[in-house]
Amino acid sequence: MLIVRTPGECRRAVASLPAPVGFVPTMGALHAGHLAIVDRARCENASVVVSIFVNPLQFGPHDDYDRYPRVFDQDCALLREHRVDVLYAPSVEAMYPSTFSTTVDVGPLGEELEGACRPGHFRGVATVVAKLLGAVRPQRLYLGQKDAQQTAVLRRLVQDLDMGVDVVIARTVRESDGLALSSRNVYLTPEQRSVAPALHRALEAAARAIEEGERDARAAIEAARRELAPPFREEYLAIVDPATFAALEELRRPALVLGAAYLGTTRLIDNVSVPDVNGVDHVVTPPLGAPAFGRAIERGRAGMLGETS
Ligand code: PAJ
Repeated sequence: MLIVRTPGECRRAVASLPAPVGFVPTMGALHAGHLAIVDRARCENASVVVSIFVNPLQFGPHDDYDRYPRVFDQDCALLREHRVDVLYAPSVEAMYPSTFSTTVDVGPLGEELEGACRPGHFRGVATVVAKLLGAVRPQRLYLGQKDAQQTAVLRRLVQDLDMGVDVVIARTVRESDGLALSSRNVYLTPEQRSVAPALHRALEAAARAIEEGERDARAAIEAARRELAPPFREEYLAIVDPATFAALEELRRPALVLGAAYLGTTRLIDNVSVPDVNGVDHVVTPPLGAPAFGRAIERGRAGMLGETS
């Protein structure tokens, strides 16, 4: 695994990799959720690039930028095990030199829900991902459903700015009790950790109500709220259209149930997708054919036609 530190070094390293290149941006402190995305990118692409960069631009003044976990050597070992070709790990100075002034405004989608609670957060996310895509220039960008609004914002970014990259969304990886894996889970005390799965249970309660035919969003959100007892402090619970992120007053399927809540000083977010009436999930991307597998199918077809390859 080659480790590169500047946008120029990154572009040169990626230029020599076979396409398609799958790219997984992260802030490090890697867990099984990140690694599942890396493994998926490995299966679906000839080359895999991962970035580790704790992006100051997406943290507010009261957020956890300083205490965000940084375990670079451990992350490198994991990425080597998972057969990553290039790790892009720029410094803050390489990303944001003193002359830096351009940012990406993502519009109204970046101002609701997470954006309302964390002003400027999605501007920071969109700006850093635009920069990372400029350095890596992958064919595919891999994101996790865990950060649902982030996936919607970044889909919009690549579409609006004609970035020509396919966005692949991987499903959320959870602990056996339902808690979504997150680099921030290390902040939880043992007592907080034991109640943390209630956030997922709350979202599941609303999702179940929708599947059972509830039409009133307020009633479904109340069903979720009943699960989210103190010490949880709710920040928001919402039910949106997964395509537009517009809040649904009258419920229909598909839908996306989202929540954010504090346990002490730790902020947890999660979401549950309600598939459409045919059982199709509109959020997660179905597996793409692996390149080698695709070639095998072509060879198989040629064989059936009596040709040799
Ligand atoms: P980070 O929180 O490190 O997450 C990196 C990627 O892993 C994101 O796409 C996120 O949605 C995904 N991910 C996190 N937890 C997951 C889980 N339990 N299951 C599946 N996927 C999971 O998200 C960021 O970093 C940053 O905002 C970034 C996009 C890198 C821009 O700075």
